[in-house]
Amino acid sequence: EVTKDWNGADQVAIRSPRGASVRVCLHGGQVVSWRNDRGEELLFTSSKAIFKPPRATRGGIPICFPQFGNCGTLEQHGFARNKIWTIDEEAPPLNYGDNNNNKASVDLLLKPSEDDLKCWPHWVSLSMDGDLSLISRVRNVNGKPFSFAFAYHTYLSVSDISEVRIEGLETLDYLDNLSQRERFTEQGDAITFESEVDRVYVGSPGVIAVLDHEKKRTFIVRKEGLPDIVVWNPWEKKSKTMADFGDEEYKQMLCVDAAAVERAITLKPGEEWTGKLELSAVPSTNCSDH
Ligand code: BG6
Repeated sequence: EVTKDWNGADQVAIRSPRGASVRVCLHGGQVVSWRNDRGEELLFTSSKAIFKPPRATRGGIPICFPQFGNCGTLEQHGFARNKIWTIDEEAPPLNYGDNNNNKASVDLLLKPSEDDLKCWPHWVSLSMDGDLSLISRVRNVNGKPFSFAFAYHTYLSVSDISEVRIEGLETLDYLDNLSQRERFTEQGDAITFESEVDRVYVGSPGVIAVLDHEKKRTFIVRKEGLPDIVVWNPWEKKSKTMADFGDEEYKQMLCVDAAAVERAITLKPGEEWTGKLELSAVPSTNCSDH
């Protein structure tokens, strides 16, 4: 049986019978921990992270909504990650597809405040099971069309960034955030890291893999409704400018975000959008290893 319990006032923990676990914080509706059945943490959180609203915690999976980055009128990455979410007791059951047994979820709701209601009368709910599935829904309850960007800003924990590669983004176009979102085409084979990277790979496949050679672990990222993949590592120089991030911590993390950034999602009144991210971490096999 999968169990779910409150861990202090503002976090919920979900545990699988074999010992995998997920912790979600009401602040930001943010996943702050995901451990496998050996108790190993799979998400990165900075040792300098600040766990106090209104700032999003540096690590885990903050939700960027309804804006990504600073291209827009809102705060960087939108307001969803800075708000306090509530547990939605009345959420309709989500259809997870096959294999519903042994899954537990938590439904969170972002209730717009009075002020936000004027501009953002929308809600998002998030659910997850022990293997980490996140489903977000946005419904336009306003009388006018509404456009937004979205990203699951996923901080993967890696052993050494220079030993990591991403497969599945080869030959795709990307927008480079390091040069005003100029468009380039990926030339290399698998993507490897030796300097700052901040890119939006557009129209990426539904499944990509992040291989951690040293840990002999592969993250499989599956997504639906989220056409892009953002890849971010601040590297040395930028790390030093971030107060809530250690100078050397860029070696132990890689953000790989399932996202909708290049083209905004537009909902007409009454329309609903669903975005889904599924993450699994599996031992690397010889053939997918170096
Ligand atoms: C990335 C952006 O996804 O998030 C970067 O592309 C940004 O430009 C990074 O620096 C972290 O953002 P923040 O607001 O959490 O510091």
